[in-house]
Amino acid sequence: MELPVKLRQKLADRAQLGTLRRLRTTAASIDFCSNDYLGLARSGKLRAGLESELQQYNHLPLGATGSRLLSGNSTLAEELETSIASFHAAPAALLFNSGFAANTGFFSALPQRGDTILYDEASHASIKDGIRLNFARAYSFRHNSPEDLRNKFRHATGEVYVAVESLYSMDGDFAPLNELAEICAEKGAYLVVDEAHTNGLYGPRGAGLVPELNLTDKVFARIMTFGKALGGHGAAVVGSEALRQYLINFSRPFIYTTALPLHALLSIKTAYTLLPHLDSERARIHALAKYLKKVLGQLPGISVNSADSPIQWLQAPDVAALKLISQNLLAGGLDARPVYPPTVPAGKERLRLIVHAFNTESEIEKLAAVIANVR
Ligand SMILES: Cc1ncc(COP(=O)(O)O)c(C=O)c1O
Repeated sequence: MELPVKLRQKLADRAQLGTLRRLRTTAASIDFCSNDYLGLARSGKLRAGLESELQQYNHLPLGATGSRLLSGNSTLAEELETSIASFHAAPAALLFNSGFAANTGFFSALPQRGDTILYDEASHASIKDGIRLNFARAYSFRHNSPEDLRNKFRHATGEVYVAVESLYSMDGDFAPLNELAEICAEKGAYLVVDEAHTNGLYGPRGAGLVPELNLTDKVFARIMTFGKALGGHGAAVVGSEALRQYLINFSRPFIYTTALPLHALLSIKTAYTLLPHLDSERARIHALAKYLKKVLGQLPGISVNSADSPIQWLQAPDVAALKLISQNLLAGGLDARPVYPPTVPAGKERLRLIVHAFNTESEIEKLAAVIANVR
């Protein structure tokens, strides 16, 4: 059967704008695209650790066989949650199948009718989708603007949840967490921080930006994901024991799904044992991120990220120019992808560049040379 006409039209509209998404594989070997910040997904250490753990747990089924509330629970999953909680200096943690599930699972379940959610306008789709699934009122505030957040409290009724990311996935800038935490404390609001892009990279042993800033007691819940710097898959909501109990009872993306399989749990476990030993990789990423920003900043006529973070970007005059840059990079063996609406607002299309511990200065120079040539 054919796709309905109006849906075909939506595809045609995207094609005309030049923003049609397609799945593609890449032969480019120089990675400025993946979220494998620390190189763990490709590391022999993670693989060897996982294989040895799999040997030790060969009495457990490979698949979870059911929801955590039915046959899918295990001592392994519970012990892993206890160790994740302690790693992040929190009383409790609850595993979810992905960061997307953790955010939808949290925001669909916590805010009730009559409550209010104030969220940064640049929040990830999974935060926004979770918000759409509850009966509370939601208002966005201007990206990284504590003033606008303060202003939006005029809409507040009931309990107020404030949702932010520690490091924004597309903008590559940090939330002003100290100020946001202060406002939330003053207003009695619940601050929720998605640490998808800071878990493993910031804070003591990579425990995240919230502990780095000594804000663990001021943050109600943190979303820690494992598909990025931890090189695997899955996520955890980290917070109080009562929050964990509440999510187990009311979070539908936790309840009505098959739990993570054995290899995913063991990959998370292994990654957490490696994290404390990766200080030099973390230092390397931060140094390379600075270098990339400096090199891009020397290219005339392009706007670049103002923050020193492993997520850098540049804006070209239009979509066609972005495409050309990306194609030329690919032809030069460099993988860096353009990002289009609706992932970023219209007019803010950009080339997103991720720095990894395994990148080199010469790769960065090659990247800049290709970009300079296109222009
Ligand atoms: C800020 C943020 N939150 C959540 C997610 C979703 O995480 P996952 O890929 O584990 O579903 C992502 C990934 O794109 C993200 O960037």
